[in-house]
Amino acid sequence: MSERTLIIIKPDGLQRRLVGQIIARFEKKGLKIAAAKLIKITPQLAKKHYAVHKNKYFFSGLVKYITSGPVLVMVIEGPKIIEITRKMMGATFGYDAEPGTIRGDFGTSQTCNLVHGSDSAKSAQKEIRLFFKPAEILNYQMADKNWL
Ligand code: RTP
Ligand code: MG
Repeated sequence: MSERTLIIIKPDGLQRRLVGQIIARFEKKGLKIAAAKLIKITPQLAKKHYAVHKNKYFFSGLVKYITSGPVLVMVIEGPKIIEITRKMMGATFGYDAEPGTIRGDFGTSQTCNLVHGSDSAKSAQKEIRLFFKPAEILNYQMADKNWL
């Protein structure tokens, strides 16, 4: 069954000109982009998106970081999409993330870890609703669907 997840290429990913390389990894894996846009996250939206962390010591730094510049937000779709994209992102901190993962290949930081991906179907549903209107998420078929 097809699932959806919210992926964000964070401000450091954009400033370091890694947007193309990060999207290319998802495309090479055969994943399908259902929605995408470049935005600057407001503090209000950041606080909603990261609400589960609101009592953590790193919360204010996290909000400052994610609102510090433009980000690319995407909805990616496919079977087991949350599990697959979380594996491709790697562990939260760059220094822990395995080589071959996005965070493991491009950084070493705790905060500037390049990419966000929803961690469960419930978070995905909540996060997608925060960032996209239903009409912005496209329903279409990939031409190579039967080969992947
Ligand atoms: P994300 O939500 O951004 O996809 O990251 P994640 O699931 O791998 O990690 P999570 O635990 O949800 O943490 C959210 C973001 O907060 C920053 N963070 N800093 N101890 C710290 O300094 C610390 N812990 C977490 C990271 O930017 C992480 O991506
Ligand atoms: Mg998370």
